[in-house]
Amino acid sequence: QKARFTLDPAFTVGEVNPRLFGSFVEHLGRCVYTGIFEPDHPTADEAGLRQDVLDLVKELGVTAIRYPGGNFVSGYKWEDSVGPVEDRPRRLDLAWRSTETNRFGLSEYIAFLKKIGPQAEPMMALNLGTRGVAEALELQEYANHPAGTALSDLRAAHGDKDPFGIKIWCLGNEMDGPWQTGHKTAEEYGRVAAETARAMRQIDPGVELVACGSSSQSMPTFAAWEATVLEETYDLVDYISLHAYYQPEEGDLDSFLASAVDMESFIENVVATADHIGAKLKSKKKINLSFDEWNVWYMSKWHEIENSGARDWAEAPRLLEDNYSVMDAVVFGSLLIALLRHADRVTVACLAQLVNVIAPIMTEPGGPAWRQTTFFPFAQAARYGRGQVLDVRVDSPTYETRKYGETDLLHATAVRAEDGTVTVFAVNRSRTDALPLEVALDALGLTRVVEHSALADADPDARNTLDDPERVAPHTVDGTTLRDGTLSAALEPLSWNVIRLA
Ligand code: AHR
Repeated sequence: QKARFTLDPAFTVGEVNPRLFGSFVEHLGRCVYTGIFEPDHPTADEAGLRQDVLDLVKELGVTAIRYPGGNFVSGYKWEDSVGPVEDRPRRLDLAWRSTETNRFGLSEYIAFLKKIGPQAEPMMALNLGTRGVAEALELQEYANHPAGTALSDLRAAHGDKDPFGIKIWCLGNEMDGPWQTGHKTAEEYGRVAAETARAMRQIDPGVELVACGSSSQSMPTFAAWEATVLEETYDLVDYISLHAYYQPEEGDLDSFLASAVDMESFIENVVATADHIGAKLKSKKKINLSFDEWNVWYMSKWHEIENSGARDWAEAPRLLEDNYSVMDAVVFGSLLIALLRHADRVTVACLAQLVNVIAPIMTEPGGPAWRQTTFFPFAQAARYGRGQVLDVRVDSPTYETRKYGETDLLHATAVRAEDGTVTVFAVNRSRTDALPLEVALDALGLTRVVEHSALADADPDARNTLDDPERVAPHTVDGTTLRDGTLSAALEPLSWNVIRLA
């Protein structure tokens, strides 16, 4: 049985915002220390940044990088992270039960972004757990005010004459989660988020602000949380956040492969909730979505470590260092497709995280850096997923899943670049069978297949590791054709596919 869809330039979803290819650097485990920053590493530059990692970050194509947490931010004192390194205090990091040395801080983060290049943009999270309006304003003044005030002059005295120009700010992190330091009810959080936003706009009306939504669609307060928070903040914020992580549960791989069904429904439910509040408030404004944490994460493994008491106040311990398989990368690719399919409202998204911690890039202290399987779908989507997302409605054979019922075997989207070329991103969820695909695209005026690249393997459990860092990589698929306005391809079992057409 074939899967089919039609592409027509007249039917689009919306323009992809480059911020859809954002990522996330948290002071967690080895994301910062021995991840991006390792002064003693043979490839480190004068600032202590690992050049081998920087090269991979550039190749990955990330844009906005959220910082410094995550759960870490809810205990973060930004003042600790600036000024002479030797004067910076060591602190307890309650979120990850680690010791934070503050050797890497705000100025180093901005320098890291500059070295990535102009596509990299700061996205700063504020501590609304243990702190509030005053500290947010102080950080904003320190970071963004040009000169002539105590905090902007302090920044200059610290060696950063030019303001950092941080445009997009997260008003706290996962404030709905009981695990969050300073966790709040929706009413409590909505109030502090509104007042922080109002005050920040007094400094700069042009800041872009993200209110915390739910930590996952399965939170007991989901949707009611968003509604209450947005009632308080609707006119003051630009985005509501979403976080989602997926892993197989009880060995149910078929449902795991369909994780994007949950992600898409999460997005659609948040859009519905936000628009409901907009309608109630008789507002013309639309709130967009910042999917600022998403990934495959074997969270159950983490909970085992968490409960074992084995991580007491270490510096940069090995935490959340998931090693991803081909199957994980296929699910990951499908999550990327879900984001692209909703590019009209999801205008920011951050892959959590960038290095070592549930990350596409891994490192060894003093040793090499390498690409995980998930590196490839991200890099390809960030490179070719630029332009207008075309409306894709698939007619696909289905399979039965425990969690989501009858589910399409094909998950797909297509993006049309400014020059008229089109890239189809497609996942075959079948663990056993190839999926023949036919796309009618006469209206696009395309004539040839530039490349069909696939990530698939006879062993879906294959991974890249320190010992075998290049075991998995995408390969070129032969036999894909474009004739008389019809694209024909065979998608290998359990595969992520990128088909470029010109
Ligand atoms: O990305 C890891 C953690 O997941 C973040 O710190 C937190 O926001 C989320 O629960």
